[in-house]
Amino acid sequence: MPTRPGLGETARAIIADGMGILAADETVSTITKRLTARAIESTADSRRAYRELLFSTPGITGFIGGVIMQDETIRQHSAAGIPLVKLLADRGIIPGIKVDAGVHPLAGAPGESVTEGLDGLRERLEEYRELGARFAKWRAVFVIRAGLPSAACIHANAHALARYAALCQEQGLVPIVEPEVLMEGAHALEQCEDVTGRVLQAVFNELFAAGASLEGMLLKPNMVTAGHGFARHVPVAEVAEATLRLLTRHVPPAVPGIVFLSGGQDAVLATEHLNAINALEGPKPWALSFSYGRALQDEALEAWRGQSAQVPAAQQAFRHRAWCDSAAALGAYSA
Ligand code: 13P
Repeated sequence: MPTRPGLGETARAIIADGMGILAADETVSTITKRLTARAIESTADSRRAYRELLFSTPGITGFIGGVIMQDETIRQHSAAGIPLVKLLADRGIIPGIKVDAGVHPLAGAPGESVTEGLDGLRERLEEYRELGARFAKWRAVFVIRAGLPSAACIHANAHALARYAALCQEQGLVPIVEPEVLMEGAHALEQCEDVTGRVLQAVFNELFAAGASLEGMLLKPNMVTAGHGFARHVPVAEVAEATLRLLTRHVPPAVPGIVFLSGGQDAVLATEHLNAINALEGPKPWALSFSYGRALQDEALEAWRGQSAQVPAAQQAFRHRAWCDSAAALGAYSA
């Protein structure tokens, strides 16, 4: 498919000059878990207050080029009555929207999931575009376990990602294509590299088959890391080298940007890994940036604790981490 005018420009604008993405698209049930874990009641209004705190943080516009929202947030208004999507756009931050309908058990593949949400997607994309979204996100999930992920799981999810991407482009939205190999488990880094490589290969095969424009998308992969339960500490340099080697093998240079998920890495480590990847020598034909959820938000959420008096402290924590991650996207971070 030829690149629709504007898609490549939007994709590049989101990640220009070391900027990255704030993933604030947790579903109501996921954000409720994060809030209640900190004794903050989860209501439509407390969720709005939290998202407004992030989106209105002073001084983030050079670091955050796009924000991913979810269905509730894109329809909400600030305390002053401004639609949150307009609050972002007025600051020059490009609004995005999560459009998948979550992970569901994959029939015939015990322990594995497929991401659903293709039914009615064209109409939902139209509506989100009318509301002001300019890019979208769809997340597929893969587990590493004995014999998994299965070929069936990889194929089903890669196919759905490609159909989603083509539909987004038809509707004038930049698709973020997110295949996430989870860090759950005790696997070694080499297993993550092998599985992520097979997943990316399948995803790009399906994107070609669907006629999606590589120039008009962003890829959101996991970094190559060991599982959370792996016995040995893996040095930052090993993660960086394996991640760049993997991307060089599997991601065509036509893709303008790769924005990593943080996947449960702590905030500082996610910054250090991104910086080390960017500091490596070698061909890097894509911008390498971030689309972090937890790694960008955890410190801010901890500081906020649901109290309005804590908003400045929470915004300070968010601005600091966004600044660090943006420096890391340029390979210029130092602790
Ligand atoms: P994490 O950075 O917390 O993994 O979240 C990113 C995301 O958008 C997951 O879909």
